[in-house]
Amino acid sequence: MISVVIVGSGNVAQNLFHAFQNSADVTVKQIIGRNREHLAFVQDNALISTEFTSDISADVYILAISDDAINSVGESLKNAKGILVHTSGATPLDAIKYAKRPGVFYPLQTFTKGKIISFHDVPICIEATNNKDLETLTILGKQLSKNVVEIDSVQRKTLHVAAVFANNFTNYMYTMGSEICTEHDLDFSLLKPLIAETAAKLNTLTPMQAQTGPAKRGDQKTLHNHLQIITDKHQRELYTLLSNAIKEKHGKKL
Ligand SMILES: NC(=O)c1ccc[n+]([C@@H]2O[C@H](COP(=O)([O-])OP(=O)(O)OC[C@H]3O[C@@H](n4cnc5c(N)ncnc54)[C@H](OP(=O)(O)O)[C@@H]3O)[C@@H](O)[C@H]2O)c1
Repeated sequence: MISVVIVGSGNVAQNLFHAFQNSADVTVKQIIGRNREHLAFVQDNALISTEFTSDISADVYILAISDDAINSVGESLKNAKGILVHTSGATPLDAIKYAKRPGVFYPLQTFTKGKIISFHDVPICIEATNNKDLETLTILGKQLSKNVVEIDSVQRKTLHVAAVFANNFTNYMYTMGSEICTEHDLDFSLLKPLIAETAAKLNTLTPMQAQTGPAKRGDQKTLHNHLQIITDKHQRELYTLLSNAIKEKHGKKL
């Protein structure tokens, strides 16, 4: 049995709490947050604390808090005997190097508070400073996911940049699509099967192979017509920038 203390009350903390509660071999000893109301998802009041200390002994302390708060909040747990990990893709292990046993437990997925998802297929990227701690984090990760990988801070930062392109920027494109639909009185749901298939194609094709569209084909007339429809300056700039990038990548004449 592995015992954990979770620090945080947001997207990741809530999903981790739920997943660990459903794991037979992990016990959540405490969940700490600065704002009690944000911990309303924890039914057992005895588990809740607003004190950022390591009074409760646990094998692993998980800092699931904003990147900017990791260094300062983690310091209050620096004397913990257990492993102190953060869950950030963009933050090096060194941010909590004052800990007796620093580490990282980064789930490579997008989490949203109120939307509980399964960790089963989520890569858990772990890092620690010794083999014993790596082993403990591997065992903990395997309670949640079939995919636990050891990744160092430099690799994780790079992976995070790739994830920003693959997820955050893609989602921003959905926002643009949604705004264009709303502006022209169209239902954004009409695009959902297309969005699902775009992602599903990557199970069998590389992103390069999966690319379609007027820029890939070099259909100048369609590109020109689309720019006539787009009224928003920012959307026009994005459309032109991305179309040019696709044309260049796929070797079409600019
Ligand atoms: N969301 C994702 O998809 C995702 C995926 C993988 C990894 N991560 C990483 O996981 C971590 C948490 O992300 P999240 O999305 O769960 O963030 P979030 O929903 O914004 O929650 C942030 C948490 O940090 C707490 N916090 C912020 N500043 C604090 C401070 N100065 N002192 C104490 N607590 C503070 C917040 O407390 P209040 O509620 O009181 O504001 C909240 O509980 C980040 O390192 C992030 O990079 C996120």
